Amino acid sequence: MAKSILDYETVELRDELDAIEIIDQTLLPGNIETILLKTGEEIWNAIYLLQVRGAPAIGVAAGFGLYILMKKSEAKSYEEFMKQLREKSDYLNSSRPTAVNLSWALNRMETHIKDMTMDGSDFSTINEKHGISEKGFCLQSLIGEMKEESERIKAEDIEVCRKIGEYGLELIKDGDGILTHCNAGQLATCKYGTATAPMYLAHEKGLNIRVYCDETRPLLQGARLTAFELQSAGIDTTLLCDNMSASLMKSGKINAIFVGCDRVAANGDAANKIGTSVVATVAKRYGIPFYVCAPSSTIDINTKVGDDIKIEQRKPEEVTEMWYKERMAPEGVKVYNPAFDVTDNELISGIVTEYGVLRAPYDVAIRKLF
Ligand code: MRU
Repeated sequence: MAKSILDYETVELRDELDAIEIIDQTLLPGNIETILLKTGEEIWNAIYLLQVRGAPAIGVAAGFGLYILMKKSEAKSYEEFMKQLREKSDYLNSSRPTAVNLSWALNRMETHIKDMTMDGSDFSTINEKHGISEKGFCLQSLIGEMKEESERIKAEDIEVCRKIGEYGLELIKDGDGILTHCNAGQLATCKYGTATAPMYLAHEKGLNIRVYCDETRPLLQGARLTAFELQSAGIDTTLLCDNMSASLMKSGKINAIFVGCDRVAANGDAANKIGTSVVATVAKRYGIPFYVCAPSSTIDINTKVGDDIKIEQRKPEEVTEMWYKERMAPEGVKVYNPAFDVTDNELISGIVTEYGVLRAPYDVAIRKLF
């Protein structure tokens, strides 16, 4: 039987090749091709160009990426090693600003090395663990530890998405019509997705659901990715242009909305793909529950409110000519192209995390969670 898109790993460590292997998502759904990323520039570009994308998948790629880059280190001391690690981490972190999972994964890699060595003052535990009898700084054991941590980030992502699916499933009934925006699916994570996890589990359980995917201008993640993966899973999938969702909601066909998230502020404001806040606003008008699915790694308690979230601005060409046979806007016209928007917490019916569904007041629920 032909391999389905769901049989591919979104992000995989190919340690034997000193590389990360990713599905090149810019080619989907027409071509399923994987590519190897070996250098810092290749990893940075793959994240910036959305060859690998979606907050959790970016985090996993960054963890593997930092390990692959540090594997080449010839540092002679802990201080030198950490200086290199920080430089490479800062470089990868500059590829995209909004998804907090990127900095979360990179910080986690650094913190892990610090914790394991008591910030360079004790190498005995880490060396012993890696079968090294030396007592002092040993490059090999630090690199081995980075590999393990990056693999843990990926394994946890799968576990966390499954849990989000289980909690989200409790919010779905047989026969429901569900709307989603962008791609918070398996392609944005390592399995299940976040917003799609409840849908996959509902389908697995035999619930009859219909999923409506917003096309998601300008990069078409809904059309190219979500519709593709849900249809491949055998889920009843319907595609619509973004400007059709209000009429769909008014028609009564939508019972719940599930979206992913790139960063949740401490007050529950949630940044996600541009257009999400329009969906949430209209959902409120028609009384449709609007759920944000977010691993706890997407919650940023250091960002107080949504207005503090840095929103990525992207190239005008994504709006004026990409995907079209010929340019569809006048030359020289000014273009507004933010990649994300922030949904105000009062429009959110629940934030589905791996620990359960958070409800308003979100500042209190989030403080409790951390
Ligand atoms: O620009 P993208 O494609 O990386 O944006 C992705 C989204 O907005 C997703 O909804 C979000 O990252 C959550 S993925 C589980």
